[in-house]
Amino acid sequence: MASSRGGIVRATGEEDGEVDPFDEVALDTNLQEPLEDNFRDLDVSLTGPKSPYRPYMRTTPQYIPGRGMARYLPALKNLIPVRRKPRAKNMIAVDSAGFLSFISFSWLSGYMYSAYKKGLTLDDVPQGSPLDSSDLNAQRLELLWQKEITEKGRKEASFSRVVWKFVRTRVLFSCFVFCVSQALGFISPTLFMRELLQYTENEDSSTQDGVKWALLLTLSEFLRAIFFSWNWALNYRTAVRLRSACLAMLYRKVIRLHSLGDKSIGELINIFANDSQRIFDVVLFGPMIVGGPVMTMCGIGYILWLLGPWALLGMIVFLLFYPTQYGISRLTGYLRGKTVVVSDERVRLMTDILNSIKLIKMYTWEKYFSKNLFDIRNRERNLLQKTAYCQSLSISMAPTVPVISAIVTFLAHISAGNNLTAAQAFPLISVLGNQLKDALSRIREATKALIDSSIAFTRIKGLLLLDEGNMSVIRPIDKQQAVCISKGTFAWDAGSSVKNRALPLPVSQATKEELEKLNPTSNGELHYTNIISDIDFQARKGHLVGVCGQVGSGKTSLLLAALGQMRLVTGQVTRDGTCAYVSQEPWVLNATLRDNILFGENFDAKRYYDTLYCCSLTEDINMLPGGDQTEIGDKGINLSGGQKQRVALARALYADRDVYFLDDPLSAVDTHVGAHIFDKYICTALKKKTVIFVTHHLEYLSHCDEVYFMKEGRIAEQGTHQQLMDQKQDYSLMMTTRLTEIQLGDSARVEETKSVQRRSSIGKNSTSSKGSVEEMVEKMNPA
Ligand SMILES: Nc1ncnc2c1ncn2[C@@H]1O[C@H](COP(=O)(O)OP(=O)(O)O)[C@@H](O)[C@H]1O
Ligand SMILES: [Mg+2]
Repeated sequence: MASSRGGIVRATGEEDGEVDPFDEVALDTNLQEPLEDNFRDLDVSLTGPKSPYRPYMRTTPQYIPGRGMARYLPALKNLIPVRRKPRAKNMIAVDSAGFLSFISFSWLSGYMYSAYKKGLTLDDVPQGSPLDSSDLNAQRLELLWQKEITEKGRKEASFSRVVWKFVRTRVLFSCFVFCVSQALGFISPTLFMRELLQYTENEDSSTQDGVKWALLLTLSEFLRAIFFSWNWALNYRTAVRLRSACLAMLYRKVIRLHSLGDKSIGELINIFANDSQRIFDVVLFGPMIVGGPVMTMCGIGYILWLLGPWALLGMIVFLLFYPTQYGISRLTGYLRGKTVVVSDERVRLMTDILNSIKLIKMYTWEKYFSKNLFDIRNRERNLLQKTAYCQSLSISMAPTVPVISAIVTFLAHISAGNNLTAAQAFPLISVLGNQLKDALSRIREATKALIDSSIAFTRIKGLLLLDEGNMSVIRPIDKQQAVCISKGTFAWDAGSSVKNRALPLPVSQATKEELEKLNPTSNGELHYTNIISDIDFQARKGHLVGVCGQVGSGKTSLLLAALGQMRLVTGQVTRDGTCAYVSQEPWVLNATLRDNILFGENFDAKRYYDTLYCCSLTEDINMLPGGDQTEIGDKGINLSGGQKQRVALARALYADRDVYFLDDPLSAVDTHVGAHIFDKYICTALKKKTVIFVTHHLEYLSHCDEVYFMKEGRIAEQGTHQQLMDQKQDYSLMMTTRLTEIQLGDSARVEETKSVQRRSSIGKNSTSSKGSVEEMVEKMNPA
């Protein structure tokens, strides 16, 4: 699995890990000591005080499914009341916190104090706990997911079940803790407060008794608070782990995909931004659902004992509340489900509009599109409104039900001919009015969280089940080979081409039909179109391999195929070494120019300035207002196409990889800059590396060790430049045409270039006249 997004691709041999997914999977992350050591090593290697990027980490900690009680050790250690164990300075304190500190969050006080005193810088932010790391937790979740898929199959697999397995132990424990806190909350008023009230009513009782009940009441309230915040502390941590695991797992999945299938970027953003919060909330509030039943049972028992069966009438009001609440929650869930679909539609349309705004303006389609957008928005608002009504209803029900229920209880009790004392009434009001009310509002929150999260889990499952393609890149047997494709046929997912490529009209009823027309075989399912076929391609280590051909002949696809980014239909791809990919459309990060080039690697002055020189970026940087600290990208200064291309090249060179995939890197730069880059970058700096060089500048091909000429998705000719010229087929024809073009059309430019160079070389010991067009023409035509 190579991971690439326009930037640098690293192929790893050791990916996928050796963990047997069918091993019994631990319920809690088991981390042995060495792992913590790993993390200590990692935090030393922060790139620097200012840089928000961390260097590329070669060692990712491996999750090892634990067995037996040992896997609970880190969590159990948190039960020691006070711990004084010194911790590494920049490790977060939560792992070394004692029980009291853990449940009261007092381990945070240090950070809060220093934030208050001097403000926090990036340096003050400690390294997170390895137990909470997204990497490790994602590995664990992934294992559980794979196991689920193997056991239940793709269709039956349930992501909710996997999540349950992931959090089971912690959540069950937190439920238990919550129940204890609820029980204590129940005992305080019903037992201790009642006794205290009876003591005040009874004049004979001793002072000792009064003190005893008062102390017991205080103690039970104190314990209740402890258990309650213990539950929060546990839930927060579990929620952090689950969310980070889900997001990291999804992120990895998205990186492995060739196409998003029927998902749009908007849906993806929704999953990452909104659904992740739902996942967090369900762990936070979900366990509290047990409070409701516990409280109701206690309440019924107590009323029976205290007031007798008649008073149970009041409880019926209470019990009726559950089905009503459930019904409202279901309705809310249903409406929310519908809202999500409409929101996705709106986001997708908006994205499409923004992407094709030029086109829309050009054809004056504004009205049509804005009408479409407003229609969708209205539908969305309608649904949101309905959801809000349901929610207000359920919010307002929670506080009123206990009051009604208390009144009914007392009325029933009195009308049965009984009399009501303060010692009977106060505890009951307290139970009904406080404890049960709280329990009910928690039920409401918990059911909402559960329903919301189940929608989120279904969406996540949909994303996780997207087809990843079947490409596995192995190492070649021949040690001399860097990249080899044998008898390869590769395809793009048709779904992706339709959806993510230039799309004049956004998805709507009309356009769906149009898309179908564009795509006669389309029947709503994904299908694949072969783009390049019968590919036999080899790049030997240290060679410079040129690739040329008409636009659309499949050059870019060839590179992506070799990188493992296309669907392999037949054949095999082998590759040895780490890779760097410079895409045809250069891509910059919204960060400083230097960060764009370092891309997370450590700064090494010589390597950095050599890179700038090879990419001929020095002058451009001098012209930028803040030098290489100038912010570029969306929010910063706009670079020209050529500059972006050179930044992308510099990023690749600085990364120092084994195999370079350069997709027409000189297309947007001037001829003399192109010649400089070809000379200094490709021929000098990358002399010892394997370079696969796609180009339209045919003049460079004669320098390549081997040339592939592509035509209509196939390799039409291959060999050295001279061999291909001798074959006198398409390649030589193309060369001759280009030669004539240069000689005729460009002769004026050659003259001009010459005179410019003559002028600029005065006073400068310039070598840049090498690589002029004229010289290229000479090189191309040695005869
Ligand atoms: N992501 C993609 N999805 C579907 N089709 C694609 C995709 N990228 C390229 N193609 C198609 O593959 C063919 C070859 O394209 P490409 O490899 O970009 O050619 P070249 O780089 O030689 O110009 C073209 O017909 C193009 O439309
Ligand atoms: Mg291309």
